[in-house]
Amino acid sequence: MKKGLFITVEGADGAGKSTQIDFIMKYLQDRGIKSVFTREPGGTKIGEKIRDILLDRENSEMNYMAEALLYAASRAQHVAEVIRPALLEGKAVVCDRFVDSSMAYQGVARGLGESVAVINSYAINDCMPDVTFLLKVDPSVSKRRIREDECDRIEQEADEFHRRVYEGYIELEKKFPDRIIGIDASKGVREIGLEIGKHLERIINAK
Ligand code: TYD
Repeated sequence: MKKGLFITVEGADGAGKSTQIDFIMKYLQDRGIKSVFTREPGGTKIGEKIRDILLDRENSEMNYMAEALLYAASRAQHVAEVIRPALLEGKAVVCDRFVDSSMAYQGVARGLGESVAVINSYAINDCMPDVTFLLKVDPSVSKRRIREDECDRIEQEADEFHRRVYEGYIELEKKFPDRIIGIDASKGVREIGLEIGKHLERIINAK
């Protein structure tokens, strides 16, 4: 089974994931841990095509279940082609968003509920993250960090949608306390980095 270390980073749009992912990648590289960075939706040739369909603002008629299935389809390809092979080689995989995004955005915010977990159990096929860093920042703050004219189909949703995404993440944090580490992302970038570093040290030493 799984040999490497699977790390995912989650949070609302504009929560500052990219900066912290850069930090995690540097942390792993400095310790000589072979690591792969990837993202969802996307991460493969097929996944990037699905991403274009999902984020295209012109696809305003997209049915919510179709949306959930497309995210899961991109994930199935991603796990099979990139994530599982890298883990089997003993590498660390750092993924910008994974199944928790579907649970929060499609499951809670779109209201599809448990069906999202069922669909994704097929897509993931037991390849769950070892640890998930959840960057928590109040939706009113994260929304302000996104430029209106650069919004994709999901980001352009109403404030109420983003509030439900946030609540969805908080529910997940409560449900999976052993896996999901909530981080107060309103703190300074350096402070957050130090906090994540401490968790990584503990996790890597326990491996
Ligand atoms: P992206 O530009 O990657 O967002 P960010 O830079 O904030 O991570 O766009 C991905 C969008 O897709 C984002 O709004 C969240 C959404 N999403 C879902 O709704 N469900 C999912 O399963 C995933 C992976 C992303």
